[in-house]
Amino acid sequence: MSTSSTSSADLRDGMKRPIEAGWVVHTVETIDSTNTFAGRLPAWSAVRADTQSGGRGRIVERRWISDKGGLWLSAVLPCPGPRDRWSILPLAAGWAVASALKEVGRIEPRLRWPNDIMVGNRKLAGLLVERFTDDTAVVGVGLNIFNHPEQAEPSLHGHTVRLADLAPSVYTVDEVAHLILHSLRRMHTLLLGPGFKMIANDLNRTWGKPRPVEITLTGQTRPLEGLFQGIDELGRLRLAIGSDDFRTYDASQVTLLRELA
Ligand code: BTN
Repeated sequence: MSTSSTSSADLRDGMKRPIEAGWVVHTVETIDSTNTFAGRLPAWSAVRADTQSGGRGRIVERRWISDKGGLWLSAVLPCPGPRDRWSILPLAAGWAVASALKEVGRIEPRLRWPNDIMVGNRKLAGLLVERFTDDTAVVGVGLNIFNHPEQAEPSLHGHTVRLADLAPSVYTVDEVAHLILHSLRRMHTLLLGPGFKMIANDLNRTWGKPRPVEITLTGQTRPLEGLFQGIDELGRLRLAIGSDDFRTYDASQVTLLRELA
């Protein structure tokens, strides 16, 4: 299903096909970043690449290793109306991907704020949600399936996990992509209705008891320590510092969260 071509002209000319209900999916062997490419596509398009040469993560300085065998997928979702209305989207997208992965079987993924998908203390998937236009958002998903990220980047050793090691019952990369696209569509429908509360409650349940973390705020170098207490009704991170100092932060205010336990 993939092709050897990488150019955007080729992508537009013939490699798209309706795949999962309601999506048009482009597939390529290699591309710089599926997110960058998806930024030029209309809503309900998605791009999947076998490899990325310039995969991007939430931490700007760090390249996202995107070797063959992993899922590198970007999906374009419509976001009509005021921007604030969609501020929960990055969190809800993590929820949708985690929900899809539960279907793959025998996995109990958890979320690390804002949307890392973890199994225990190892990272299974990361999401990068970007807005290139006023009325769409690109949800980029990087998921380790059969790839070995630590071979390309030894410092990742012990910090990542692959789906193939957790759910050996053979799902292809393509099948996992379908499950995720289906789940993203469902999440979007929920957000258009009264689903925000349900997703926020479910996220807070998943996060469980308060966890010690340090967060780095935009523009600051010294991290702040506290107890991560989930999100509030607007989707903002809640942090308790000591017993009487409770603070909330919008996702855009936090560049990094590190779990301390
Ligand atoms: C992170 O955890 O830092 C987010 C990583 C997101 C990686 C995915 S791979 C598909 C999409 N294309 C990109 O360039 N990045 C995202």
